Amino acid sequence: MAAEVETETAQRVKRLERKGIVPGLATVLVGENPASQMYIRLKHSACNRVGIRSENVVLPERSSEEDLIERIMELNGRADVNGILLQLPLPGGLSPQRAMMSILPEKDVDGFHPVNMGALLLGAERLVPCTPRGIIYALERLGKKLEGAEAVIVGHSNVVGKPLAAMLLNRNATVQVCHVFTRDLAEHTRDAEILVVAAGVPALIKKDMVRPGAVVFDVGINRVGDRTVGDVDFEAVKDVASAITPVPGGVGPLTVAMLLSQTVSAAESQAALI
Ligand SMILES: NC(=O)c1ccc[n+]([C@@H]2O[C@H](COP(=O)([O-])OP(=O)(O)OC[C@H]3O[C@@H](n4cnc5c(N)ncnc54)[C@H](O)[C@@H]3O)[C@@H](O)[C@H]2O)c1
Repeated sequence: MAAEVETETAQRVKRLERKGIVPGLATVLVGENPASQMYIRLKHSACNRVGIRSENVVLPERSSEEDLIERIMELNGRADVNGILLQLPLPGGLSPQRAMMSILPEKDVDGFHPVNMGALLLGAERLVPCTPRGIIYALERLGKKLEGAEAVIVGHSNVVGKPLAAMLLNRNATVQVCHVFTRDLAEHTRDAEILVVAAGVPALIKKDMVRPGAVVFDVGINRVGDRTVGDVDFEAVKDVASAITPVPGGVGPLTVAMLLSQTVSAAESQAALI
């Protein structure tokens, strides 16, 4: 599915190029966190594959909030930058909220700006967080009926759980959101026709916690020894689920594909305003 989205996105890039527009994404990285550097590299090579021009703005670890906001403002003002992505987490002392709010909502391709989050909550989805968007895309592509479906989300982060709950509600699913304080997790997860797990806890979800026939999305990315694993006991759960995403190679690539798609959407709507 990620490859399919990339192919469609590359075609949309070509259409824009015929109008003399090359979509551009700027990533902003503060400091030298190796995991963040790796995610940035992945995003830039994905941009390359579909013809999006990309650049990485790197600020030193000890940058002030003012320095960061100033750089974001510069990118806001550039016509050749259609999307701006601030790589999180920021080094200690820097507030992601203020920096995020300084990105123009129409260039906020990660969908984290309060204006975009607010629109999502009101049922008017514009640019939305990429992981939930990928999950909704996959469900729709699988032909899963969302209206009335029992959906359970484990994890209530601003990046995944909360926006996904809003997106599922916008499509009239019945949504339960669980988190670390949920008293009996299994009691909830066993209800799920659609189960999304984004907790960051290896093997949190075992076979007896999954309803037979459920569609399972494993968002977790955990390092265990030299392996990368998700939050679901994949080998056991794949026997009861009707569909399940692997880690690595499942939700991650779809998330990156959605970032590309949203960057092109941002370029398309900015072009319409010229
Ligand atoms: N594949 C992707 O593209 C992608 C994108 C975002 C996050 N992630 C991964 O998803 C995981 C979650 O990240 P996040 O930023 O959404 O969340 P987070 O790390 O901010 O928060 C974790 C969430 O899980 C809940 N939780 C923790 N332990 C739990 C437990 N034992 N039982 C029930 N709930 C529990 C917490 O209450 C919280 O809601 C991480 O492993 C992260 O690396 C992957």
